[in-house]
Amino acid sequence: MDAYLIDWANLLLRWAHVITAIAWIGSSFYFVMLDNSLSPTPHDDLKAKGVDGELWAVHGGGFYHSNKYMVAPRWLPIPQNLHWSYWESYSTWLTGFALFTVSYLFHASSFLIDKTVFDWSPAAAIAAALGFLAAFWLIYDGICRTLGQGAKGDLIVGGSVLVFVVFASWLACQLFAGRAAFLLVGAMLATAMSANVFFWIIPGQRQVIASLRAGENPDPVHGRRGKQRSVHNTYFTLPVIIAMLSNHYGWLYQGPHNWAVLVLLMAAGALIRHSFVARHKAHVQGRRAPWEHAVVGVALLIGLAIWLAPPPPSAEAQAAAARPVAWAEVQAVVEQRCLICHNAQVQQKNVALHTPALVQQHAQQVYQQVVLLKLMPMNNATGITEAERALLKRWYESGAPVR
Ligand code: HEC
Repeated sequence: MDAYLIDWANLLLRWAHVITAIAWIGSSFYFVMLDNSLSPTPHDDLKAKGVDGELWAVHGGGFYHSNKYMVAPRWLPIPQNLHWSYWESYSTWLTGFALFTVSYLFHASSFLIDKTVFDWSPAAAIAAALGFLAAFWLIYDGICRTLGQGAKGDLIVGGSVLVFVVFASWLACQLFAGRAAFLLVGAMLATAMSANVFFWIIPGQRQVIASLRAGENPDPVHGRRGKQRSVHNTYFTLPVIIAMLSNHYGWLYQGPHNWAVLVLLMAAGALIRHSFVARHKAHVQGRRAPWEHAVVGVALLIGLAIWLAPPPPSAEAQAAAARPVAWAEVQAVVEQRCLICHNAQVQQKNVALHTPALVQQHAQQVYQQVVLLKLMPMNNATGITEAERALLKRWYESGAPVR
């Protein structure tokens, strides 16, 4: 019953998390597009009001005419009905953290820890996972504050953050089960994204508004800082999403160099995002859309696919493949590798495999989880071999007989 309720909590939190994330990333992508698509206004009355750029758009049966005031509008009062964007970000973080708690922290011994990677207690692993999220933010924030001042500040900050993300990915993969490590790196970047909104972007905007309402000239530093963090956020977006999705694909995170796989996936995401960001600017300036970065990103993904391709079956495996599969062999594998987590008492994800009828009922899922995705056994806790996976594959492909 407990497990059943946790599955419901998991489902509803996941739903809420995806919805809030769509709302956040959707508005964030929209404003990045808007910013990069602005062109100077030809209208004198708008110029007089301090408008620096405008965009005409057609959508949903009407026309929109957005104006951007660079530091702040030079006319007062600022309307009371001012739309802010922050709850999308905070609620994405809150639902994400709750989901992480329900799926990983509650089951730290099977989800966070892989004893062949690093053997430690659930309490220590949980503390380290939480420490990871906090430490990344503190160091990343420190890099942005200290290195970002000079002429090439943005470049230096960008390069340093990149090196630091690579290091954090490597470290996570030395400490946690591959699946958890990938998720944690995604969560760590996502935490920094929300913290950017919470600690810098929104407080900066509040100060600008307070100065305007007090009749003072707002300090442009708030706008510059907010912009820097929001640019980082846009480049983090695709890496975060691929890090989170990748943990559903066992072959990505199970290899010995899984940290490099994660880094390459995220690099591909950032490069592809860059092409989209640059494309809007190019469009306004009448230049060709710069697709080179996206092409390099896609090439990285193709390279990864080739690197991770399963080796061709050995002569031994080929000989075994020709033999018919005996149910007794399959049953022995299920008993040895699966039953401790899928039996009459413990039924992870409502899957029990302690009778032939149950194995048959779940045959397709077993095939998918063990053979295709290699997600089961969880973190390969029971040490299934490639030959045993191949056996399950032949069994399923020959119609999953249970006698
Ligand atoms: C160490 C415990 C453990 C072992 C061993 C294990 N599993 Fe699982 N299994 C789990 C957990 C935990 C889940 C839920 C995973 C999740 O929520 O992502 C699960 C989920 C599943 C699911 C449902 C997946 C889904 O999302 O629909 C199937 C099917 C499955 N396991 C099959 C197997 C088979 C077959 C084996 C043996 C080859 C096996 N498991 C071994 C812990 C285990």
